[in-house]
Amino acid sequence: MSKIVTMIAPVNIAVIKYWGKRDEELILPLNDSVSATLDTNVMCAKTSVCARPEFFENEIWLNGKKESFTNQRLENCLHEIQARAADEKSVSVEFLSWKVHVCSVNNFPTAAGLASSAAGYACLVSALAKLYKVKSDVSSIARLGSGSACRSVYGGFVRWHAGVNHDGSDSVASQIADASHWPEMRALILVVGETKKKISSTSGMRISVQTSELLKHRIEYCVPLRTEEIIKTIREKNFAKFAEITMKDSNQFHAICLDSYPPIVYMTDVSHYIIELVHKYNKTCGEIKVAYTFDAGPNACLYLLDKEVPKVVSLLKYAFPTSNSEFITGLSVQAEELTGDELT
Ligand code: ADP
Ligand code: DP6
Ligand code: CO
Repeated sequence: MSKIVTMIAPVNIAVIKYWGKRDEELILPLNDSVSATLDTNVMCAKTSVCARPEFFENEIWLNGKKESFTNQRLENCLHEIQARAADEKSVSVEFLSWKVHVCSVNNFPTAAGLASSAAGYACLVSALAKLYKVKSDVSSIARLGSGSACRSVYGGFVRWHAGVNHDGSDSVASQIADASHWPEMRALILVVGETKKKISSTSGMRISVQTSELLKHRIEYCVPLRTEEIIKTIREKNFAKFAEITMKDSNQFHAICLDSYPPIVYMTDVSHYIIELVHKYNKTCGEIKVAYTFDAGPNACLYLLDKEVPKVVSLLKYAFPTSNSEFITGLSVQAEELTGDELT
């Protein structure tokens, strides 16, 4: 007797970056963040979860390699889903006692600054919710796995409200607009480096919170205004202003990394070259047509409108003649887009 569920979930790339926690255990951020959720059919995590009475322990395989399940975040997600299932009486007490095996693969580089933790935990939690027939919203459980994961549960443009409550009850993600609102929006992912980052996002932001003066300034004086402004640009479909805020926020986030002590360097010379190319391109166009943003890694995400894609791809092919790394993706429509197969 066993039950298996397989789900896929998308990455999301922030335009206002989350960087810094006020609570490490509950994963409560210091600032609001805003992101776009990308198409699952281009970049996704795919996760199968299986419960069986014969399983002796909870186990996880990530990209074919066995990892330790004694990871507090995995355990918190599983326990929270099981607690919801017990509350909702959605499965039998016996089923709740069975151990779980998890098998997940990402079809893009893991731990390289392309939001694998967001897709990975959104996927894991969605699969577990389906396995345990949990009906209530799972975004806040995904947040317990990785903060950015709470945004990948929704499609289109998403805001994660930092909240003020100690228990995290108001630290929730909500959709600003679904993908159909701005169907011309595209993301172009440029893989600069596939290797695992030396400093995880979790450790990096901890160092920044402890040591960066600039981080305090950002949280108090920059993010609140930027968040409202960028939401307005999304609602009004004002690409040039959206792009400007996106680039400034990425730059500020990496400035905070450098302001941390010891400094954290996620971008490489190639990342900086991409920044230079984008600014040159926009200058030649006479208006902002492309935005870059970099998460905690060297890889670029360019936001642009669909009509710009052929020109920008040709420019990139000219600048990087031996590279064929780009993923072109639109935005995903809804969280319900997560597709599931159930085998009993
Ligand atoms: P990224 O920039 O890719 O999000 P992070 O440093 O935030 O990098 O997180 C990487 C970690 O996220 C991995 O080391 C792993 O623990 C976890 N992770 C990544 N993908 C998955 C997945 N598909 N399922 C479960 N956990 C994942
Ligand atoms: C730069 O969500 O990966 O990508 O909550 O510790 O798992 P943890 O960190 P994570 O941090 C993401 C940082 C970022 C910006 C963002 O996605 O908002
Ligand atoms: Co991450």
